[in-house]
Amino acid sequence: TPRVFSGIQPSGRLTLGNYLGALKRFADAQDRGVQSIYCMVDLHAITVWQDPAALRNATRELAAGFIASGIDPEKSILFNQSQVPEHAQLAWVFNCVARLGWMNRMTQFKDKAGKNAEKASLGLYAYPALMAADILIYHATHVPVGEDQKQHVELTRDIAAKFNHDYKTDFFPMPEPVIEGAATRVMSLRDGSKKMSKSDPSDASRINMTDDADTIAAKIRKAKTDPDALPSESKGLEGRAEARNLVNIYAALSDSSVDAVLQEFGGQQFSAFKPKLSELAVARLSPISTEMARLMEHTDEIDAILTRGATRAREIATPVLRNTYEIIGMVGS
Ligand code: TYM
Repeated sequence: TPRVFSGIQPSGRLTLGNYLGALKRFADAQDRGVQSIYCMVDLHAITVWQDPAALRNATRELAAGFIASGIDPEKSILFNQSQVPEHAQLAWVFNCVARLGWMNRMTQFKDKAGKNAEKASLGLYAYPALMAADILIYHATHVPVGEDQKQHVELTRDIAAKFNHDYKTDFFPMPEPVIEGAATRVMSLRDGSKKMSKSDPSDASRINMTDDADTIAAKIRKAKTDPDALPSESKGLEGRAEARNLVNIYAALSDSSVDAVLQEFGGQQFSAFKPKLSELAVARLSPISTEMARLMEHTDEIDAILTRGATRAREIATPVLRNTYEIIGMVGS
């Protein structure tokens, strides 16, 4: 049976990229009735320094973001990673399965470590093995993510395959990355060659889930574009990264396709399209941010939801870890 797993780091604010690339699609999967497990990956967040109070707040706000986006903590399992110790335990086993050469190819490590990789934490380097553990501790089959996480899910498959091969077993399934829709890679509003990211120093580069209507409208008004009108077919977006990005965002927010958006707006100037995009973005996002703010007034309820989610997650994770230990020869398992 298919089982979905995905995670989001509680580091900083949620962006439109996280919503369209992840949260919105999680809600769609849940509504199709697939068993789904979603994790606030706080152990991943600390691979770079996090202020403890800010981390605690970001974890709760992320949980509020999941719920406000339509993930029902009764239907899906919603929890934070550090409350399910089996993730870290399986990650250690995978640290011993993964090869240094594999880790050296990870582009996210190279981006995040920057020029001075000597100063990066060992955790940042081992990050993908923990991510593999997140997925495989549930024997998840499908992993909905944005484009930027594809390499990590492929590494997860490599780890599962090597484990199975080394221990002559078929214990771990091969999870599939699920990267679909019009907004698998939402770009910065200031630079169409850069990903929209919570860590970009320019706040104007992104739309945060917590931005109010005026802020969203101002950011879209100032978003970089080119002087040409919108094309009426998608091939007219070639070489126009900023234009393509805004059209992708419109398509994803309106649950339609790039072609349908261009049929509607082809020939129009950005001065006409941007107000429509703002209107749509505000209509879709403001109920979510209002609900997030309401939920954040009751953090004790959020904490209770996460603890309950962790209990349910452990019911799946505990026997998988025990079986893994038994396969590799640990006494007492
Ligand atoms: P994170 O926290 O950076 O992002 C969470 C999710 O949002 C997607 N995303 C985007 N999608 C489209 N456009 C963007 N600009 C954009 N920015 C972010 C990401 O692809 C991701 O799906 N390593 C993961 C967290 C993780 C995980 C896992 C995911 C840990 N364990 C297991 C899946 C399964 C990360 O850093 O995502």
